[in-house]
Amino acid sequence: MTKIINDYLFDESAFDYHDAAFKALIRPDTKRRALKIPAILKADKVEGGTIYYTIHAQVGETRILDGKATRTWGYNGSLLGPLIQYESGKHYHLTLVNELPEVTTWHWHGLNIPGPIEDGGPHAPVQPGESKEIEFDVHQPTMTAWLHPHPCPHTAEQVWRGLAAPVTVVNPLDNLPQLPHDWGIDDIPVIFQDRTFHDNQWDYQADYDMDGTLGDTALVNGTANAEFTVTRPWLRLRVLNGANRRELRLNTDKNIVMTQIASDGGFLPHAVPLTKIMLTTAERAELLLDLSAYKKGDQLLLKADDTVILTLTVGEFTEDNRVELPSKLKEIDRGFTGGVDHQVIMSGMDDAVKINGKLYDMTRIDDRQEIGKNEIWDVSNTNDDMPGMGMIHPFHMHGMEFLVLSRNGKEPYPNELGYKDTIAVNPGEHVRLLVEFNVAGIFMYHCHILEHEDTGMMAQIEVFDPKHPKHWNLKDLCAKNGVDSMAANMKM
Ligand code: C2O
Ligand code: CU
Ligand code: CU
Repeated sequence: MTKIINDYLFDESAFDYHDAAFKALIRPDTKRRALKIPAILKADKVEGGTIYYTIHAQVGETRILDGKATRTWGYNGSLLGPLIQYESGKHYHLTLVNELPEVTTWHWHGLNIPGPIEDGGPHAPVQPGESKEIEFDVHQPTMTAWLHPHPCPHTAEQVWRGLAAPVTVVNPLDNLPQLPHDWGIDDIPVIFQDRTFHDNQWDYQADYDMDGTLGDTALVNGTANAEFTVTRPWLRLRVLNGANRRELRLNTDKNIVMTQIASDGGFLPHAVPLTKIMLTTAERAELLLDLSAYKKGDQLLLKADDTVILTLTVGEFTEDNRVELPSKLKEIDRGFTGGVDHQVIMSGMDDAVKINGKLYDMTRIDDRQEIGKNEIWDVSNTNDDMPGMGMIHPFHMHGMEFLVLSRNGKEPYPNELGYKDTIAVNPGEHVRLLVEFNVAGIFMYHCHILEHEDTGMMAQIEVFDPKHPKHWNLKDLCAKNGVDSMAANMKM
């Protein structure tokens, strides 16, 4: 029998409790509401093997608490966005429409598509009132990704206002077809975020924290005090930490075993049974919950720290969807050794955050790697000068999914043995990553505490194809969009 993991794996002292600005979550004083399930985005058309989607970024109002509606931003709706489904091997054409009062971008976090335009980082702005078309192929395993804006230096504020949407890739070759896959019935998105309400409104400037903005109210899929009625004994939860800064420490009131089957980049080699899981910002986990022992009316409370974020209430089981989980979910070869090819040192907190001693510059290429080559990245966090101090920096790379080779020379945690694109790095730690790009272009790598990213804790790599050399003439749009992020965010 595999051992059940019942701690968060991470060093408790590095958790954000110590931060003077730490805001604990409170359960909102509002009636319980049905968990919102994002609709599935319908294709505009399918023509000559190409699938067409249109995604509007727009302003709206959403009823979240009792009383007044909250002014929010969303994709094809007032808050968050629809599920955007991709099938591996297919070609997509997207029309991106910006109906916001400011510039934005569409970043496909977890999709390995060319940069910097299709990938949708800061180099791919769409001006207010304009639209842009992009096209790309999807070649990836079955996985959960997401869409969020990435304009320099206003990513954090735009995500805070509500822009984020779930994305899935299905690869018929890599699928475990017997897993729950009925969206909204037994395949459930759990997009975790935290916001503070000011007379039912969000106020990013008022709540802004340079070390990452926290809110006191947990939202799941934009629902406060959410409840989901369970009608099949097996639930597949696709958990995404969509918060700007808060680490999600997910647990349940009954300490039930949740079986993690996938991380950011798809299935783990083996399922990992756990009762607690920590996800830093942008990390994803697919969890299987077996509620077959529950009776009608029984409840299971999902909590972040000590606060209930989602109530699962058992209704009538209409169908038994349990199957035997194979002992091996996916073949992953982690046997790679070699020296370090790339160093990333994440340092500082507050306004002193840097990557390799530098702030982000859109015109500078910080590193290069050849397409199709396996190279080792050593990523460290030097916030360890004082014991028990410092903070976790969640490190994210665009353009590919990496393997975690080691943490401080040791095996990574059992749920880090699959492909990932975001990895928590504790103060004082070195994490070794195996990185291979299969698409070329300019890609970001950065701390996914969104305020750190906006302050400049970000760098960019050129992935080059020697057969098709390219010359890049990169423009500085940060300056144009917002002078410097701190000044922009501190504007009152
Ligand atoms: Cu989730 Cu560079 O982004
Ligand atoms: Cu990304
Ligand atoms: Cu950081």
